[in-house]
Amino acid sequence: MSALLVHLGDQAGPAQALARAAALPCAAIASHTFPDGELRLTLPFGAGQAPRQLVIYRSLHQPNDKLIEVLLMAGQARAWGVRQIVLVAPYLAYMRQDISFHPGEVVSQRVLGRILAQSLDGLITVDPHLHRVATLTEAVPVPQASALSAAPALAAHVGRMLGAAVSPVLIGPDSESAPWIASAAAELGCASGVCSKVRHGDQHVEITLPDVDVQGRPVVLLDDIASSGRTLAVATRGLLARGAASVDVAVTHALFAHDALAVVRAAGVRHVWSTDAVLHETNAVPLAGLLAGALRPLLVAAPG
Ligand code: R5P
Repeated sequence: MSALLVHLGDQAGPAQALARAAALPCAAIASHTFPDGELRLTLPFGAGQAPRQLVIYRSLHQPNDKLIEVLLMAGQARAWGVRQIVLVAPYLAYMRQDISFHPGEVVSQRVLGRILAQSLDGLITVDPHLHRVATLTEAVPVPQASALSAAPALAAHVGRMLGAAVSPVLIGPDSESAPWIASAAAELGCASGVCSKVRHGDQHVEITLPDVDVQGRPVVLLDDIASSGRTLAVATRGLLARGAASVDVAVTHALFAHDALAVVRAAGVRHVWSTDAVLHETNAVPLAGLLAGALRPLLVAAPG
């Protein structure tokens, strides 16, 4: 077999959609958790039957066990002779801890990036949180790396949902969202602005709204990640206080930890749309086509 895409059962939907879009055979990996928490994985091939190229689909939300799974799968596949291993991780975890914010703090992005790179030949991800580094390979030094953006797909979805007659104001909740806002505003041809944000803790953010007129206008907040939801909630309250007619939210990675979605809705958000990078009830934008478009050339470009 030349190339095979594998996935764990909990992400079968988006993995199979990617396999269809990329015209790859697809198989599930069996996983058993022992009483002590250790994992036993069973690959869909054994020694002597390994494909030449292996695509591992594993989005890394709630990442700790999933990272171990990826390392176990990739390590065994390599030992059985797989020549090219590509991880498709639409959500790439630990990217936000990219400097020591306080003395002694582990720079998780770099440490985990190096560990992943030792096991992989390629990595495809979507809107990774790379705000203080220019390229994905600086964070994860793999030979083939592809950082895609979901902003155009989210913008297209917003356009479809609001209808051609409605021109929203697109707002980014912090300076780091500026690139997504620029690309989505270009797609929709609408007004936009970017807030400034100061984070005081996991659940406490302060947001200053941009000098953009939102009075009586529908606003869409666009961001890469919704985690505690506090960024979106605080921005929403500010926008509604300024007279926005409605606030909808479009995010790439719907982490929505604990009460986050309820907090966002309680702040007055009307619709929440997300991609299927992280499986969540708000998913509205499938990424299979975008991912397949990046995967095909990586597999073709593999050394023989
Ligand atoms: C920050 O830089 C990101 O772009 C998101 O705005 C942030 O991760 C959202 O976090 P939370 O939902 O916890 O406020």
